[in-house]
Order: sequence, then C-alpha cells, then structure tokens
Amino acid sequence: MDPKLQRRVQRYGWDKTVDVYERYWRSQLEPAQTLLLEMAAIRPGERVLDVACGTGLVTFPAAEDCGSTGEVVGTDISTKMVEEARAEAARREIGNVRFERMDAESLDLADGSVDVALCALGLMYVPDPGVALGEMRRVLGPDGRVVAAVWGARKSCGWAEIFPIVDARVESDVCPLFFQLGTGDALAITLEAAGFRDIRLQRITMTLHYDSTEDAIGAAFAGGPVALAHARFDDATRDEAYAEYAASIETYRNDGGYDIPGEFVVAHGVK
Ligand SMILES: C[S@@+](CC[C@H](N)C(=O)[O-])C[C@H]1O[C@@H](n2cnc3c(N)ncnc32)[C@H](O)[C@@H]1O
Repeated sequence: MDPKLQRRVQRYGWDKTVDVYERYWRSQLEPAQTLLLEMAAIRPGERVLDVACGTGLVTFPAAEDCGSTGEVVGTDISTKMVEEARAEAARREIGNVRFERMDAESLDLADGSVDVALCALGLMYVPDPGVALGEMRRVLGPDGRVVAAVWGARKSCGWAEIFPIVDARVESDVCPLFFQLGTGDALAITLEAAGFRDIRLQRITMTLHYDSTEDAIGAAFAGGPVALAHARFDDATRDEAYAEYAASIETYRNDGGYDIPGEFVVAHGVK
C-alpha cells in the first residue's frame, strides 16, 4: 500500500472513532497498557513521549508516574484524537502533559529530548514501524528506554476476520501488515534493527469482552482501523459485512455476550 494513502486512511479513520473509542476499547486494551507502563517504570521527573497516543489512555497514567517535576508529550496523526486528549487534560486540570499532531515516522522533537518513549497499539498502523522506532531512538537521550505494545499473532486474535471482510469490499487493504509485528520475535527484531539493546519481550493473552453483538460489531467497524472504509459503505454493504463478521465471532458467544480471544506483545529496549 502507498505509504501516503496508509497515513491518510489512518488519520481520517481514527478521526471518525474519537467519540466511541473509549467505550469500545478502554477496558479491552487495559492489560496491554498496564504491562507497557509497568515495563516502562517511569520515575518522577522523567520526560516521556507517548507516540500514537489516541485519547491519552497511556499518556495520563504516564503523567501521574512522572509527577509534577516530569512532563509528557502525547503525539498522534489524528487531529480529533489530539483535540480530545487536550480537552481531557484541561477537564482534569493536568498541567504536565501536552498533545501535538505528529506522524510517528517524523517527530517534530529535538534529538535527545526525552527519557522514555512509549507506543501503545500504534506501530501496526505505521507504514514503516522501523522508521518510527528510529525516530523514537533519535529523540531519546543516552540510555533512554522505549516500550512498545502491539497486537499478537493473527491466530491468537479472534476478531482478525475484520480485515479480510473489509478488504474484500474496498480497493486496497486497510492494514496490510497488521499482525506482522506481533508474530514470533518480530517486535524484538525490529527494535534491534532500529538500534535498541537489552531487549525484553512479553506476550500476554486475554479476552475482549463485549455485552452484545451490537457492541462487538461497533468495536470492530466503527471503533478501530477500518473506520474510514466502514463510513463509506452503503447500507447493503454494511449489513452484509456486519453479518459476515458476526458469523466469524459466533464461536466466542456465550450467555454474557462475547469473550473474544486476544493477544498482545510488549517489548522494552534501551538506546
Ligand atoms: C489503537 S489506537 C491506540 C491509542 C492509544 N495509544 C491507546 O493505547 O489507547 C491507535 C492510534 O494510532 C494512531 N496512528 C495511526 N497511524 C499513525 C501514525 N502514522 N503516526 C502517529 N499516530 C498514528 C491513530 O490515530 C490512533 O489514535
């Protein structure tokens, strides 16, 4: 896929998710975000960068961890995500955090200006994750840490059919390499290739719970990376795609809704 097109699909797609993102993904992504923050072990006074920060689900806890003597900058390619995160910071009166619109592959930050770089569930969407990690390395000071979380292997993610179902109805794949980084040691290898050392990798499995078919479908179509394609479907295409996706997760349905298996990989490296 043309990298420029991929960036546009991501930018305007995530713009569309902003009002539903936390409803559909807040509790589901929490295990990965918690592990990432644990592995980052942010200390008071540290300067933190949160790449692909979305609404700030990792940025705000990071701001608490680094305290009033530290600071966090959250960056994201989606204008709406950045605006929402800024509004939330203002609502909560959090003073040690700021949000800027930036492409992960081209950070408008000075060399060596942060101590810790985080990226939670963002690298899968970037045309070249190696370039993004190189940028994070550039802005880290000596011995700076990077911690990145990605979705795991395709076979371990019960919601994975969303991609072929949507791709069959649009001109180009939405996220061609989505599961690549979460397979085997790919994330560790990519960190190493970007110049990081002392790499540690953890893989965790969990389930994504949704109370209803409507929520499970909403999360996959309106709340995630296929949101732009979804917004352009006509009614008939939408109904057909919903039915196909519902059939693909039927096996995970139980009395309480759906418990869809998922896997995350979180890796830590040092500059
Ligand atoms: C699944 S959300 C994760 C948000 C947040 N880190 C979290 O854990 O909730 C993915 C985010 O990646 C952002 N994104 C996608 N491509 C990007 C790129 N090339 N540069 C920066 N951000 C990007 C999206 O706009 C979206 O906010």
